[in-house]
Amino acid sequence: MDKPNQVVHSDRNLALELVRVTEAAALAASKLMGRGQKNEADGAAVEAMRRAFDSMAIDGTVVIGEGEMDEAPMLYIGEKVGQGGPAMDIAVDPLEGTTIVAKGAPNAMAVVAMAERGNFLHAPDIYMDKIAVGCDLPAGVVDLDAPVAENLRNLARAKSCEIADLVVCILERERHARLIAHCREAGARIVLIGDGDVSGVIATAQPDAGVDIYMGSGGAPEGVLSAAALRCVGGQMQGRLLFEDDTQLARARAMGVTDPSYKYAIEEMAKGDVMFAATGVTTGHMLRGVRRSGSGAVTHSIVMRSKSGTVRYVEAHHNFKTKTWSPA
Ligand code: FBP
Repeated sequence: MDKPNQVVHSDRNLALELVRVTEAAALAASKLMGRGQKNEADGAAVEAMRRAFDSMAIDGTVVIGEGEMDEAPMLYIGEKVGQGGPAMDIAVDPLEGTTIVAKGAPNAMAVVAMAERGNFLHAPDIYMDKIAVGCDLPAGVVDLDAPVAENLRNLARAKSCEIADLVVCILERERHARLIAHCREAGARIVLIGDGDVSGVIATAQPDAGVDIYMGSGGAPEGVLSAAALRCVGGQMQGRLLFEDDTQLARARAMGVTDPSYKYAIEEMAKGDVMFAATGVTTGHMLRGVRRSGSGAVTHSIVMRSKSGTVRYVEAHHNFKTKTWSPA
């Protein structure tokens, strides 16, 4: 039987080992940066990440992945990963921002979150309405159901500033036209991002990113990954699944969703001891992108853990000549 200090030691190692998985995906995707091949970049990231999981000492189950077993060859929902060890649930987005990489634009990342079994919301691949703010704010300062102006007023008051000082991050989509108009009417400033709302949500918890609040709808799987990241740094987030048709509703019910209009708190999307790792593919506000040379590459990653609140940045220098594998 494990002694208590051995348990602590092994789960610490797990958090740090997670970064190898995102490094592998980022290295693989980076080879296709700016080449207009989003599916190929995604495929390369998926394959490399899947392979990297083989060396992790976990009994892992993918709960947020590339799709259902019949639609994704690897990292599908329910797939087992790892060599064996503690039972962990895994949420992956091997390439968050496929279009970003295809264009060589900023903020693409490889992302993984991990928690003990049963701790992640099993979110289907549909949209989720999201609202998120960073750390050190009064609990409930914003609410998904409150009018935009009220949220901005409350946030400005909590931050001792004017609404005009706040910056809202929103995905630039037609469906957000009203949200954008409401933010502008209230007097807030806006950063419109083309893609990558995991990075947009995390930005709210990074003072240097210049983002105070994230609002709008994006992928539900990305919502769970964002919640995992924010849990590690103490931010606040709420999410609600958005259903476009009965098929999506049926799928969600099959995944255990009982109340389709339920407003999930951050801890209901990612609870327990959550570990999160991301490696930059292209440079963004949080991470530098992969820098490649003839013989190797440099990656920049973040590793976080909710239990300790520790945030680590890892710069890794990969020497392809000494490796038995090279990223695809
Ligand atoms: P991909 O990496 O799968 O292309 O997702 C990028 C992304 O921008 C996510 O960050 C976001 O949650 C989602 O797409 C938004 O979906 P849509 O492009 O349909 O608005």
